[in-house]
Amino acid sequence: MLRDRGNGFPRRHSMNKSFRRGIDYLRGAYLYLRWVGKPHFDYYKALMSDDVRRGFGELNPVWAPFQLERLIAHGIKPQHTLLDIGCGYLRGGQYIIDYLEEGNYTGTDISPDILSLARPTKNATLIVISDNKFNETARKFDYVQANSVLTLLDPEQMEELLLNVHKVMHKDSVFLANVPLSNKIRSRLWKRYFAYPLEWIEKVARRGGLSVEKLPRDRACMEKTDLLRMRLYTEKT
Ligand SMILES: C[S@@+](CC[C@H](N)C(=O)[O-])C[C@H]1O[C@@H](n2cnc3c(N)ncnc32)[C@H](O)[C@@H]1O
Repeated sequence: MLRDRGNGFPRRHSMNKSFRRGIDYLRGAYLYLRWVGKPHFDYYKALMSDDVRRGFGELNPVWAPFQLERLIAHGIKPQHTLLDIGCGYLRGGQYIIDYLEEGNYTGTDISPDILSLARPTKNATLIVISDNKFNETARKFDYVQANSVLTLLDPEQMEELLLNVHKVMHKDSVFLANVPLSNKIRSRLWKRYFAYPLEWIEKVARRGGLSVEKLPRDRACMEKTDLLRMRLYTEKT
């Protein structure tokens, strides 16, 4: 039996959850083996295209507005500018666009397929990126966020992001990101998700000129992720 998800994408209601998980696992294995040895960036882009093709890009969880709630708790005002790294199809981004003044939202993503599902308003800028060096977004933002994104980055990409994100930050910028923390670098589900030790993140971020604070989890933190706040390193931090 097909049931509407409330967003136009049908779901097989009768399909047992663990059976679906099994299928996902096998599909992940297939994609992983196809892309093994090639850059993680390309592998993830292929995964996203596959998700979009299968209608999985359009889930709209109730917690999407919590990203804006988090930003407001950290002081964002409508006149501020925001860079949303890995903005996806604007699941949470659209709430932020609605809140910010016209033109103050920029979102990036590696997947043109995911971005094609977005319907940005108020002159929001969406950019397809091909690495995490921030050359395409060469301007400074008051706020930077990476919501449910860092867990998708392999160590090489994570280093690239942490070493380069300073290019889009000024001395008062705040970078908020959630990520699963663990005692060593771990990956699961065919390298689809990674978890990192806080000390490792701090060490790399320090090389990139950033200080890192671990904050209490908030409502936008997906299962088992922790919230990090990063700023440009100053003598005081
Ligand atoms: C789980 S979705 C989160 C979307 C959005 N941030 C949200 O919370 O609503 C992760 C997004 O990150 C993107 N992504 C994956 N690797 C990335 C990378 N290295 N740099 C930027 N975006 C990436 C994916 O294409 C996907 O759209």
